[in-house]
Amino acid sequence: MSSDNLLNSMGKRLEGKVAVITGGAAGIGKATAKLFTLHGCRVVIADIQDDLGQSVCEEIGAEMSLFVHCDVTKEDDVKNAVEEAVSRFGKLDIMFNNAGTIDPPKVRIVDNQKSDFERVLDVNVTGVFLGTKHAARVMLPAKQGSIINNGSVSSIVGGIATHAYVASKHAVVGLTKNAAAELGRLGIRVNCVSAFAIASPFVKNFLKKYEDDMIEKSVEGLACLKGVNLGEQDIAEAALYFGSDESRCVSGHNFVIDGGFTVANTSFGMFNNQ
Ligand SMILES: NC(=O)c1ccc[n+]([C@@H]2O[C@H](COP(=O)([O-])OP(=O)(O)OC[C@H]3O[C@@H](n4cnc5c(N)ncnc54)[C@H](O)[C@@H]3O)[C@@H](O)[C@H]2O)c1
Repeated sequence: MSSDNLLNSMGKRLEGKVAVITGGAAGIGKATAKLFTLHGCRVVIADIQDDLGQSVCEEIGAEMSLFVHCDVTKEDDVKNAVEEAVSRFGKLDIMFNNAGTIDPPKVRIVDNQKSDFERVLDVNVTGVFLGTKHAARVMLPAKQGSIINNGSVSSIVGGIATHAYVASKHAVVGLTKNAAAELGRLGIRVNCVSAFAIASPFVKNFLKKYEDDMIEKSVEGLACLKGVNLGEQDIAEAALYFGSDESRCVSGHNFVIDGGFTVANTSFGMFNNQ
């Protein structure tokens, strides 16, 4: 079934809604922006990469999208991105705190630089805090809204990324739960999506030495579920669910998209011979 036919049979799941997507100029954020607009949502792409962000808006069309330069570590930028959404499109229904970064893969903590650690925490945690704060500010009068944070499987297990990245993603889940506890009383939902590694430029750059056998390090290679490989679209689909009214009773959740990577320890080999 073509995507147009599928949309006609299922209906547009975000019709009339407005979203801000941080880090929307590339990767998961870009895939989500495109999927959201297919479902009738107008999007503000908030990113530090101006040319890329503008080109995503050109692809989507000016009626449905707007680019705003926004560094998520700067409060004025985040406030401005949210205000642009309201002034251009009239309101804010969905905030996708997606922008993220990682530090160089120095395995030994004794080799890690404080400045790298702070930079990752600043983007991955402070950025989510600021996005949540300013989205809530404009969602509160409407007593509704959906805030979606981008975590990672590094939000629940260690040993698969740098100290800074794993610490930052665990913190995102803590912030998700606390914000859900406060804002739920006021009608706003807060959830997190946590994916395994996608063979994206972000991951390939980090795992340069594995680039040739990336498949071995992917869901196909490491998770219990075989026969599929994770892509940006899978995270976009999860964000679509959390942004839509289909998830109206779901808040405080850390939704893991990893083919079962984090639920089973396969090193015991229990099912290897089947
Ligand atoms: N790629 C993966 O395998 C993977 C897996 C799990 C979780 N994630 C998470 O998904 C999110 C997006 O990752 P991606 O793979 O799409 O990466 P990406 O590098 O393709 O895109 C990230 C985007 O964020 C933007 N960005 C970076 N710093 C920013 C800042 N300070 N302010 C605003 N924008 C900023 C970048 O310009 C870029 O457009 C991140 O939070 C990442 O941790 C990625």
